[in-house]
Amino acid sequence: MPKKEILLYPDKVLKSRAQEIDNIDLDIISLAEDMKRTMHSAPGVGLAAPQVGESKRLIVVDQSAGRDESQLIILINPVIIEKEGVETDTEMCLSVPETSVDVDRAGRILVTGTDLGGKEVRMEAQGYLARIFQHEIDHLDGKVILDYASNLKRSIYLKKRKKGTL
Ligand code: NI
Repeated sequence: MPKKEILLYPDKVLKSRAQEIDNIDLDIISLAEDMKRTMHSAPGVGLAAPQVGESKRLIVVDQSAGRDESQLIILINPVIIEKEGVETDTEMCLSVPETSVDVDRAGRILVTGTDLGGKEVRMEAQGYLARIFQHEIDHLDGKVILDYASNLKRSIYLKKRKKGTL
């Protein structure tokens, strides 16, 4: 299955709220497979469907970046139902290359969603994994790390993108 092209900010799809997935059909299953492949080859620790141009609520997460198959999580319609604590750390994003932003995230979360078999999933995550989930779920709401940066940093980034230096 093919690797997908990763869209770059400020692409419109990255700024839109993604649609709920009502029906886990073969297209969704193959999209998830392509996203996994795309994430691993980047390499990255997470990818959201809007990043490959599909405005759907689907994320793939692998904090081992492909080193440990058991770490792979594919989640449909993920929702964070509990958050606890605040931690600040530096994040990068495949859709916002060549920059990093300090982002405050909850230190511990409870997330629900559905797996590819349509089964309900509920998992607790903390630290780095909790951060990845929050970052990817932001993508489903049209939000990227630059939305946490200062206006100045964001406008410098956009200027560089326009000039083609990023
Ligand atoms: Ni990202």
